Amino acid sequence: MRILATLGSPGHTIGGAGIVPWTIPDVRRQIFDEIKDQIVVIGRRSWDLIGAELPCHRAVILTRDTPASRPKVEASIEPGDALRVPNLALALSTARDLDPDREVLVVGGASVFRQAMPLAQSMVLAMIKSPVPGDLFFPDFSDKEWWVEDTWEHPSFELLRYGRRVVA
Ligand SMILES: NC(=O)c1ccc[n+]([C@@H]2O[C@H](COP(=O)([O-])OP(=O)(O)OC[C@H]3O[C@@H](n4cnc5c(N)ncnc54)[C@H](OP(=O)(O)O)[C@@H]3O)[C@@H](O)[C@H]2O)c1
Repeated sequence: MRILATLGSPGHTIGGAGIVPWTIPDVRRQIFDEIKDQIVVIGRRSWDLIGAELPCHRAVILTRDTPASRPKVEASIEPGDALRVPNLALALSTARDLDPDREVLVVGGASVFRQAMPLAQSMVLAMIKSPVPGDLFFPDFSDKEWWVEDTWEHPSFELLRYGRRVVA
């Protein structure tokens, strides 16, 4: 599973109530290119904000709001082909099972990044070179755990691809 996020600088802001830091058209294009035809796992609040515009193949929405009539561990299909599931482990396994040939991308928001970080094998971070308004932050991470596999420079942002270090 890969984390995909857009971060402002300094401070790694990812946005705030109702704020999505994708107003720079080239950043948005880049993020959407990464998402295109893949399977995303996304928190319910972020889904409500940006879900409709994501060019993903399928979306798995993490929410505790699953009808009581449904078994807790059962994913439910909703209009638009998205699935609502009640915990992260089930969200990830559901996403993987949908199509093992597609990438599973965790695309936020803050609460989901925090939970998914220990489980991720890779990260793609678009680091915007200017501040991003908001009071939500990407979790701290260390060079001891992550190494930069690739970087790509754009006038307004840097795209960093990270891999998790294998501990011998
Ligand atoms: N910069 C970026 O790359 C980026 C990307 C996406 C979003 N964002 C920003 O992130 C912000 C939203 O982040 P957020 O932390 O407030 O909300 P969020 O993570 O998008 O969604 C939180 C919701 O997800 C569900 N959830 C989370 N963990 C769960 C678990 N373990 N089990 C079941 N359900 C769980 C709950 O939904 P229910 O309340 O329905 O139970 C919870 O209220 C927005 O401002 C958005 O713009 C930034």
